[in-house]
Amino acid sequence: MTNEDQLSASGHETVLKSEAVAALVMNPMGTFVDCTYGRGGHAGEILARLTSEGRLLVIDKDLDALADARQRFAADERVSVVHGSFADIADHVKQCGYTGVDGVLLDLGVSSPQLDEACRGFSFGKDGPLDMRMDQSKGMTAAEWLNSADEADIIHVLRVYGEERFARRIASAIVSQRTTRPLSTTSELVELIDRAVPRKEKHKHPATRSFQAIRIKINNELDDIEACLQQSVQVLQAGGRLVVISFHSLEDRLVKRFMRDLARGEALPSRLPIRDAEIKRTLKLVGKAVKPSEEEVQRNRRSRSSIMRVAEKLAS
Ligand SMILES: C[S@@+](CC[C@H](N)C(=O)[O-])C[C@H]1O[C@@H](n2cnc3c(N)ncnc32)[C@H](O)[C@@H]1O
Repeated sequence: MTNEDQLSASGHETVLKSEAVAALVMNPMGTFVDCTYGRGGHAGEILARLTSEGRLLVIDKDLDALADARQRFAADERVSVVHGSFADIADHVKQCGYTGVDGVLLDLGVSSPQLDEACRGFSFGKDGPLDMRMDQSKGMTAAEWLNSADEADIIHVLRVYGEERFARRIASAIVSQRTTRPLSTTSELVELIDRAVPRKEKHKHPATRSFQAIRIKINNELDDIEACLQQSVQVLQAGGRLVVISFHSLEDRLVKRFMRDLARGEALPSRLPIRDAEIKRTLKLVGKAVKPSEEEVQRNRRSRSSIMRVAEKLAS
């Protein structure tokens, strides 16, 4: 299958596919969770490595992703498909009747179909309704939030989640525009940002940072990741693997700190007479952070900012 075929068959070219699945599946008869099904690039590869005893729970917030998973795996008894947030992974695992799992995979961010379909409102390059919800069944749209939030909240979101230096100017322009005509489309927001940003960054569209920030806010992305990481450690059995692919520094910082803290173990006063072996540790880091090969970046530009971290649950 050529790369073009791969992309058109699934609508999403999977990042770090073989690297992630090789790090995840240590036991072909084990039970695994793909928290971010998307279009199932990782899920398909995981299943290819599992025997008939193996089990895979796939989760996604997005109804289109779910429909794809249900259709694709209808005849595969090893697979359970759940619509919901990975922030509730412990409940999802329990409801599937698993007492523990051997691996949890998170491939964060948006999928190509989410970006490509103008009606989802994720892309500053396509005109569509200002939605940006990954889960189309609930929650506030980006338009609803931007048309009602306090100016200070908008500034905070643009600064913290988008690292946007012109957050104040953009927020002020949003608040001023909505008094006469509420924002409803992506192109209205793009034009507004374009006018509000005085200096453009080289090789970066002026709306990039704001769109990232608003998307993170609307989908509660960082809190969901935090909750998922905490619960993953609870549901993993000893020797089980946690594999996370991040796409920007906010995500990666969170994942890196989480894994590092649990690998270091409980913080104890420095002069306590205790041997290293007596420190209670929950995770062991597996290898260094992995980035995509040059060949993958050439083939799939979306992979260029990806970074994968792997940790293993230690016996308690
Ligand atoms: C980068 S895509 C995953 C692509 C997938 N690995 C593949 O190969 O096709 C990320 C997916 O995670 C989903 N997602 C993001 N946050 C989520 C959350 N909190 N709970 C469940 N799914 C989430 C998105 O809807 C999207 O479909």
